[in-house]
Amino acid sequence: TESPETIIVERRERVGLITLNRPKSLNALNSRLAVEVLAALNGFDADAQIGAIVITGSPRAFAAGADIAEMAEKSFFNFYMDDFLAPWDKIAAISKPIIAAVSGFALGGGCELALLCDIIIASEDAQFGQPEIKLGILPGIGGSQRLTRAVGKSLAMDLVLTGRTIGAAEAKAAGLVARVVPAADLLQTALEVAHTIAAYNAPAVKMAKEAVNRAFEGSLADGLRHERLLFQSAFATEGQKEGMNAFVNKRAPVFRHR
Ligand code: CAA
Repeated sequence: TESPETIIVERRERVGLITLNRPKSLNALNSRLAVEVLAALNGFDADAQIGAIVITGSPRAFAAGADIAEMAEKSFFNFYMDDFLAPWDKIAAISKPIIAAVSGFALGGGCELALLCDIIIASEDAQFGQPEIKLGILPGIGGSQRLTRAVGKSLAMDLVLTGRTIGAAEAKAAGLVARVVPAADLLQTALEVAHTIAAYNAPAVKMAKEAVNRAFEGSLADGLRHERLLFQSAFATEGQKEGMNAFVNKRAPVFRHR
């Protein structure tokens, strides 16, 4: 397989790190980058040596949106028949936790990519927004849906309809991001969170992600039932025995990874 051109793919112990790398266009998400990110995510998801994934950009931009130059001359026919944005939908099928480490611009598709991740950690200078309306379009990688679920209707409408951006503090207050850290600490913090997750009982991590995601689909009753079944299933794992035995014996657990 060819090596990627638009991203850098690295491994840091049990963490997979994907760095978006199109600096000249502020990491604009073109179709090649979409395919490469998906391939890297699928590779990490299938790799038992990896327990969590971090996606980051540059200090200036996580990603400034879908690539406007690539889209500008496209027609309805091109978009519909090629389903240009389809690879991004597949991120939702990745079973390992994905952390977005966001610095600088996370606009349009860049904000949507962050929303496709499981945890967003932002640097103090991060800016989030859905400015598509200024281009005569609207969000196309789930922004209208995931942003609304993350921050509620009023703020989502504000961002989607006016195209204004919000800073890290407002994004944190709105529940869009989990943590805000100084820019210099961003990657380190995201990697530490990922290392923490990657050290836990891998099936329990997978179940926990699946259970939380269930809160965004279907009814509360269905989500609670699903959680209960996953909770019961966790008792079929070696990691549950190890985690509880370690607690009872007042020692640190050591979860085995294949
Ligand atoms: N697509 C393609 N190129 C982009 C880009 C994008 N989304 N965003 C920035 N660039 C390019 C610029 O064209 C510029 O290239 P040149 O040096 O060749 O001129 C380079 O990146 C640097 O950008 P600026 O000179 O504009 O930098 P700035 O600091 O003055 O402004 C910015 C930064 C406010 C982020 C500005 O670049 C901007 O507004 N970008 C577009 C943001 C946007 O509209 N995003 C939504 C895209 S549509 C979308 O994402 C649809 C979807 O949901 C699927």
